[in-house]
Amino acid sequence: MALASTARAAPSPALRVEGLGVRYGALVALDDVSWEVHPGELLGIIGPNGAGKSTCYEATTALVSRQGRVSLAGHDVSDVPPYGLAALGLKRAFQQNAFFEDLSVLDNLVAVLGARAHAGLLGSVLRPLAAARRRSAAQVYAAQQLLRFGIPAAYHALRPKEIPYGVQRMLSIALAFGDGASVLLLDEPAAGLGGEDMERLVQLLLKLKRDGVALVVIEHHMDLIMAVADRICVLDLGRRLAYGTPAQVRQDPQVLDAYLGRAS
Ligand SMILES: Nc1ncnc2c1ncn2[C@@H]1O[C@H](COP(=O)(O)OP(=O)(O)O)[C@@H](O)[C@H]1O
Ligand SMILES: [Mg+2]
Repeated sequence: MALASTARAAPSPALRVEGLGVRYGALVALDDVSWEVHPGELLGIIGPNGAGKSTCYEATTALVSRQGRVSLAGHDVSDVPPYGLAALGLKRAFQQNAFFEDLSVLDNLVAVLGARAHAGLLGSVLRPLAAARRRSAAQVYAAQQLLRFGIPAAYHALRPKEIPYGVQRMLSIALAFGDGASVLLLDEPAAGLGGEDMERLVQLLLKLKRDGVALVVIEHHMDLIMAVADRICVLDLGRRLAYGTPAQVRQDPQVLDAYLGRAS
């Protein structure tokens, strides 16, 4: 069985990073870190504060100068700049919520949908009706997307500040996803969430997995990550301490050491 499955040509991972290295001055924030994630799979990244988890995303999305290679669906994209990576379907949500505070929840999403929503100045002057049609189509699409991300219609016309914190976190994910993503990087999506919101987040992550999105999730909540991750990468002091299934990682003596040695 094992032989047969290894003999089959393995499909390319949605995202693979190899030998990532980042220095901030004298500090080695990341040292030779590799992992991969396949479509419909969730990779968890865990580790103590300062382990290099967020830096992993900076390195993956070319926001810092780094060593190593990055490939998307089997294509080397190591030299592609951040906006180019987003256009290729690699999207990222940041650790802090970032909204257009003066726009409604719905218009926040319309704004990030870009070309779909904006007819362009020249287009709207020359063909106002077509521009208006495109805009309302974008609003319909945005409303559908918000519902898909668990944001009820009652919140769509409100400002981001006016909706509950748990819903704001879902909005962050919807905005990062934008008009589509093959790979979605989330940085502590459950930060500050209570039990019920946490459960809604889990359901959203599972839904995105079923839709074939490859998810990478940095998370402190062990219960959450153990429940949804297919594989876990444990970072410590910028290095990869362990990499395997949740069960493997949980029993890894080095992981137990690192966490037990520094009770948080
Ligand atoms: N822009 C930066 N300049 C200098 N040092 C940084 C910068 N960003 C992060 N660091 C340092 O790099 C290390 C890893 O940080 P980070 O990736 O944010 O850790 P984590 O997300 O695991 O908490 C930490 O020691 C942090 O202080
Ligand atoms: Mg971080």
